[in-house]
Amino acid sequence: MNQESLLIEGDVNFSPSRQAWYEVADSATLELLKKDEDLFMHQSLSTPCLDVIAAAEGIYLTDTLGKRYMDFHGNNVHQIRHRNPFVIERVKQQMDTLPFCPRRFTNTTAIDFAGKLVSLLPQALNRVLFAPGGTSVVGMALKLARVVTGRHRVVSLSDSFHGASMDAIAVGGENQFKKYMGTLVPETKNIPQPVHYRSVFTPQADDTSYADELEKILQQDSQVGAFIAETIRNTDVQIPSRGFWQRVREICDRYGVLLILDEIPIAFGRTGTMFAFEHYGISPDILCLGKGLGGGIIPFAAMVTKDSYNIAGDVSLGHYTHEKSPLGCAAGLALIEYLQSHKLLEKVQADSAFMAEALGELKNKYRLIGDVRGIGLLWGIELVRDRSTKVKAIEEAGRIMYSCLKNGLSFKVSQGNVLQLSPPLTITREELQKALSVLDTALAAETAVIAP
Ligand SMILES: Cc1ncc(COP(=O)(O)O)c(C=O)c1O
Repeated sequence: MNQESLLIEGDVNFSPSRQAWYEVADSATLELLKKDEDLFMHQSLSTPCLDVIAAAEGIYLTDTLGKRYMDFHGNNVHQIRHRNPFVIERVKQQMDTLPFCPRRFTNTTAIDFAGKLVSLLPQALNRVLFAPGGTSVVGMALKLARVVTGRHRVVSLSDSFHGASMDAIAVGGENQFKKYMGTLVPETKNIPQPVHYRSVFTPQADDTSYADELEKILQQDSQVGAFIAETIRNTDVQIPSRGFWQRVREICDRYGVLLILDEIPIAFGRTGTMFAFEHYGISPDILCLGKGLGGGIIPFAAMVTKDSYNIAGDVSLGHYTHEKSPLGCAAGLALIEYLQSHKLLEKVQADSAFMAEALGELKNKYRLIGDVRGIGLLWGIELVRDRSTKVKAIEEAGRIMYSCLKNGLSFKVSQGNVLQLSPPLTITREELQKALSVLDTALAAETAVIAP
């Protein structure tokens, strides 16, 4: 098994550091973990698990023994913190009146939420379709692109992730999800991720060459109907330039290819704007939203697209049971109201400057850090054994993650060597500082190990 290819999305549950973690766990926790392991399907990145969580509050998760973790991972649902009382109250009110709405009927909460969503978006994006999860929304977007363009092929970015279902893994690039799966539809072609630190092009600062790769495919293949990508890649935090996205938009327009932006993990303030594409002066043809959209409580997601694409009335793009979910819509409305009334976008912009400076200082302090990149409250710290060769520091990243977990800080490791930090947007400056000092301690211990 090529271990490294399994590390792209996140940290796996069979690493040596994971084994060491179990060796010091208490017997009550181990007993619960064993029960869990005996009941649930084992799968990479989830079961077997590493601790049992009993409660959540603010930025914290608390385990059954009372240990608290600052949650800088949160599966990207926790923009407005865990167990937000405002969202809970709204969802409770909805539960008391209309918890579920069968298809063929609608409800005012769904109408209000759809209206609210489109009011935040460029005028052209004014048609909504809800679904219970992000992967389903990606599937609906791919189906819609076929209806609109009559073309069945898709271009996506290598190593991308758009969900775990068959159609989503067909456009995603990660081996973790594709192993054993055989032929996948839709047929997909990849262009490389527009990265800077490990760019395959020179000069490295210019990532518009990546967009040229898209054009090369479209010149040769008239059956491509859509290009799908995350506006900013969440897992290992890859931030394309404005030039890249402007050029992609222009290419898609020229070839009549729909631009599908997947902002499932990063919309709703993570990057300091409501939607990440706002940073680039472009607008997608189809926008995929999810995760935090449910206020950190209800699984819920949305596709938003153009009125002119509302041409599939005779087929079902997303025939999902919980489509116009009153609970999901109540949570979504509460999320937006909370983000706006607490001025969280402005707060995240200020936090972004703080993080850039604080992580820049860590980079100056530790040779192990090859690159720091981020925007808003989404940051990646890429660890390398040697700054000139950029050899990935994979074991070191694993040890650092487990050291931080031990000291109460949870985050994700992507590509095997990128520490990904995405705390709740409500986090205080003191809490951010506390988390960074846990990370500093772990980096110092690791540097002591590797120093000549
Ligand atoms: C970029 C991206 N797209 C799609 C999905 C799928 O969303 P869901 O897990 O809600 O199906 C994810 C989930 O991690 C994601 O990160």
